[in-house]
Amino acid sequence: MAQSTAELALITGASSGIGREFARLHAARGGDVILTARRGDALAALKDELQASYGITAHVIALDLGAPNGAQALIAAVQKLGLAPRIVINNAGFGGAGAHIDRDIAAERAMIDLNVIALVTLTHHFARQMATTGGGRILNVGSTAGFLNGPHQAVYFATKNFVNSYSQALDIELRGKGVSVTLLAPGYVETEFAQVADLTQTKMVKAGGATARATAQAGYDAMMAGRAVKISDAKLAFMINWIFPLLPRRMLAKMVGQTQLP
Ligand SMILES: NC(=O)c1ccc[n+]([C@@H]2O[C@H](COP(=O)([O-])OP(=O)(O)OC[C@H]3O[C@@H](n4cnc5c(N)ncnc54)[C@H](OP(=O)(O)O)[C@@H]3O)[C@@H](O)[C@H]2O)c1
Repeated sequence: MAQSTAELALITGASSGIGREFARLHAARGGDVILTARRGDALAALKDELQASYGITAHVIALDLGAPNGAQALIAAVQKLGLAPRIVINNAGFGGAGAHIDRDIAAERAMIDLNVIALVTLTHHFARQMATTGGGRILNVGSTAGFLNGPHQAVYFATKNFVNSYSQALDIELRGKGVSVTLLAPGYVETEFAQVADLTQTKMVKAGGATARATAQAGYDAMMAGRAVKISDAKLAFMINWIFPLLPRRMLAKMVGQTQLP
């Protein structure tokens, strides 16, 4: 069996979409993986696929990262296996469409628990471990939503604003300690995301999006190159960097809000 040449990677949200593609990309480079999400059957199938295709070792930890102390439970499970990942890809996350006051507060809070609290808890733990044991790489999946305000999906956009800001700040703090933090900010990607978020009838989704594969490749390459930020949708990157800053804030927020409606 081929000896692994790449580092062990922990990938959250590996049971579908962009996360599953991160796992395939890393395994294809010969890297071992720790796969986590709630759906253990999907993770087990991916484990079998990766081990058979690439001769690597895949570990599965099925749990709810959004549960109280979900991230601590994942950290404990990784420690119990005696593993210390040199790459952590914080990818698990979900959205939710609708006017804020019409939505269930429990669903809004669950989004913050997963997209923000779990991501911060995992980043804090593994960044500290990497900084004291020779360095590593962290890839946080934010969003182009994280550079914008999103009426009709206000909490999701706010969670991604948090991820985008936090990741860019931490990268400055950690570079000198041998740890890079890369922010991947995708535009719309065709995964289970739209269905989970109840966005399938929206203008954004109907306009079509990128593939999970291309999005994961862009983020993975940026992480390996030590880039701080990768906006994987080139057109949106141009708009975010050069056009949106020139528009009145309220006008821009209304425009974005329209894309979140049927
Ligand atoms: N698709 C897009 O348009 C888009 C655009 C920008 C950013 N993003 C971001 O990209 C990331 C990946 O999303 P995706 O598009 O690949 O969507 P996806 O296909 O729905 O995948 C989401 C992943 O997160 C996991 N997950 C959800 N809730 C969880 C929980 N409570 N505990 C543990 N794992 C959980 C899911 O697994 P289980 O259901 O098995 O738990 C799944 O593996 C997210 O952070 C999303 O916000 C997506």
